[in-house]
Amino acid sequence: MNHAFDPCRKRILEAKTLTVLTGAGVSAESGIPTFRDRNGVWAQYDPAKVATREAFLKNPKYVWEWYILRMRSFQKAQPNPAHLALARLEKATPKFTLITQNIDNLHRAAGSQNVIELHGNLWRMKCVGCHKKVPIEKIPDRVPPECAACGYMLRPDVVWFGEMLDPKNTAAAEAALDAEVVVVVGTSGEVWPAAGYAQEASQRGAYVIEINVGPTALSGVVDASLFGKAGNVLAKLVP
Ligand code: OAD
Repeated sequence: MNHAFDPCRKRILEAKTLTVLTGAGVSAESGIPTFRDRNGVWAQYDPAKVATREAFLKNPKYVWEWYILRMRSFQKAQPNPAHLALARLEKATPKFTLITQNIDNLHRAAGSQNVIELHGNLWRMKCVGCHKKVPIEKIPDRVPPECAACGYMLRPDVVWFGEMLDPKNTAAAEAALDAEVVVVVGTSGEVWPAAGYAQEASQRGAYVIEINVGPTALSGVVDASLFGKAGNVLAKLVP
């Protein structure tokens, strides 16, 4: 662990307002692949064919089948020490917000409560026609599923490339950047708007700490980088 570890730990444990932003790296130790690492999801699949509205409207069955594969891999995954440490940290911090780009639901499964799911949640669908949201209790066996309210197609309630994020989520996330300490965990910092959050928080006066296995696009912006696996680093940071 590097020399920044103890001072970062003190700042994190003493902060009255703390915001954490997570990306795919926080779930890597649960066995869920990241996107941009060497064997990541986008090395195997073209995002234009599986993660855009155009792809879905052209071939809803294919896109659904891809997401069902992902659901099956999420189903096998359990929260890891990083998720669990963040849930403990929430309990110990007066004002705590967790912003995640992940759609795997593992933060909630670990017990985190104040969670902003910027990119949606794969365990929920929404109607393409009437926009009604429907939780997924069982993985659909016929796809695309139909909306019980209007009969139109349901889609996964996740954000695809080229789509707007829910403005309620971005407003809540941006408000949470006014924190004493912001910790950015397991994200490459390549996808906006989350990619801009570290710099924005820093400009507003937060002390920004990055936790990642290696340097990222955000390393030049943050005040301190703690390099290591999220589960190892967070388990040591949070008693
Ligand atoms: P990326 O795959 O871009 O980045 C994952 C980051 O996690 C990398 O910086 C890795 O170094 C780091 N990492 C890997 N294993 C780790 C571990 N055990 N501990 C700590 N860090 C680790 O994933 P995101 O930044 O989350 O969006 O990607 C952002 C968005 O791009 C995703 O939400 C998804 C994707 O396209 C949509 O699909 C809309």
